[in-house]
Amino acid sequence: MWLMDHVANVELGYAFGQSFTRLPLTKAANIVHGNALRIPWADVIPPSECSYILGNPPFIGHHLQTAEQKADQHSVCRNIQAAGVLDFVCNWYMKAAEFIQGTSIRCAFVSTNSITQGEQPGILWNELFSRYHLKIQFAHRTFTWASEARGMAHVHCVIIGFGLENTPSKTITDYEGGNDHPVTHEVPNISPYLIATSDTVITNRSTPICDLPSMKYGSKPTDGGNFILSEAEKDALLQSEPGAAKFVKTYLGAREVMDGQTRYCLWLVDITPQELRHLPEVQRRVEAVKVFRSESDAPTTREYASYPTLFRQIAQPRGDFIIIPRHTSENRRYIPFAYFGPENIVSDSCFFLPETTLYHFGILMSEMHMAWVSQFCGRLESRYRYSKDIVYNNYPWPEATTDQIALVERAAQAVLDARAMFLPPAGTSTLADLYDPVAMPPVLAKAHAQLDRAVEKCYRKEPFASDRERVEYLFALYEKLTAPLVAPKIKTLRRKKAAG
Ligand SMILES: C[S@@+](CC[C@H](N)C(=O)[O-])C[C@H]1O[C@@H](n2cnc3c(N)ncnc32)[C@H](O)[C@@H]1O
Repeated sequence: MWLMDHVANVELGYAFGQSFTRLPLTKAANIVHGNALRIPWADVIPPSECSYILGNPPFIGHHLQTAEQKADQHSVCRNIQAAGVLDFVCNWYMKAAEFIQGTSIRCAFVSTNSITQGEQPGILWNELFSRYHLKIQFAHRTFTWASEARGMAHVHCVIIGFGLENTPSKTITDYEGGNDHPVTHEVPNISPYLIATSDTVITNRSTPICDLPSMKYGSKPTDGGNFILSEAEKDALLQSEPGAAKFVKTYLGAREVMDGQTRYCLWLVDITPQELRHLPEVQRRVEAVKVFRSESDAPTTREYASYPTLFRQIAQPRGDFIIIPRHTSENRRYIPFAYFGPENIVSDSCFFLPETTLYHFGILMSEMHMAWVSQFCGRLESRYRYSKDIVYNNYPWPEATTDQIALVERAAQAVLDARAMFLPPAGTSTLADLYDPVAMPPVLAKAHAQLDRAVEKCYRKEPFASDRERVEYLFALYEKLTAPLVAPKIKTLRRKKAAG
């Protein structure tokens, strides 16, 4: 604080041609050296003598916390269910909330933006609202903070200002145009997602709020790797046991979808005992699955040692489906969902959506849905973690007219056609190449822009100016749809041609 005071005084000196100094410093700060999460803050300063709490506490996602930090978190968040998934910074919100009760103290913390996305806002703020009656008074939405340490990645930060007072004027500052172009809006309320909506938080749902196909996890092998074959392993197997060919299927994980890698798996759902006995290498692998499962620590996995020809969990679509990689880079504007046929086995690193039309594909690939994804998806390090229960099942679909649906379907087909120009067999690019923010071919970018516009028009006539506007609009629709629970009827036309 003294350093900033000095910097400001020097600037003042330049402006007025006269130097302002405060040296020697007469007031000394009261610095307490200790663990902020174990010390009662009221022992440091009585709340009645405090005006502001400012901080840049450590972030640290739950998977990176040490045992000591987890114990600290447990002691601070002991009343919060599922507190284990909260970032370490959340503990400072809890300590401050407790400390400021009965005062007009205002607080603000720099935090990682992941506490405003996915499941964390619900878990943290349910407690901060219900037990401590906090209000968010101002917010700076995501901006990047370049670390000065060499080799350190940028961190995505937010600043949340809060207190007990429901201040009449609240502000949200956006950095969608970059750190140098902040835009501040005055808003009536700021939600834990740092958008201008009510304080409602989105929770897991097991079924979609709209009339839609259910999204499902792919099949889980739990096989110790024995069902899975590389290209070379598949070739070697088919050379020695050509009869295995009808049991070898293409296996689709997130990497296969994004990077065009090819893997295969043994899919033995229909194999007869006699067929198996005549395929010794396949039989060897099945025996290895049996051993792997029977040695598992998990009793439920051990039970599946009795069914060693089968994947541990099977959920394979019967017709064409849209595949959704569960973890993808957050640097892409669009997560590239894609169509595949039922001859491909979907792994549990992906979700799939069966019985869809081009309209479903168009909506899911749109900027509207992606804005929702980036607000409500959790993060795994810096990757999106798509969630069917939070993101897909809560997504409010528009009530589109037949003409609007036809426009979306045409634009969705144009996206598939543009992809097909570069993907095999026509080209050698992968979906990761096509959706690289720099390498995306203009023809594909244009097709997406048209799709975005067609989808936005299903929601409202005027275009949206920012992702925050999109999310605020969708959130208002979500609230309408969930209270009382009325789902719009989604009309769909047939998908014409699957590609990409
Ligand atoms: C993000 S840094 C901020 C440093 C500095 N305040 C600033 O703004 O540049 C977080 C700081 O919190 C400290 N820290 C971590 N855990 C702590 C705890 N339990 N109690 C007090 N300080 C802690 C770290 O050592 C680190 O210096």
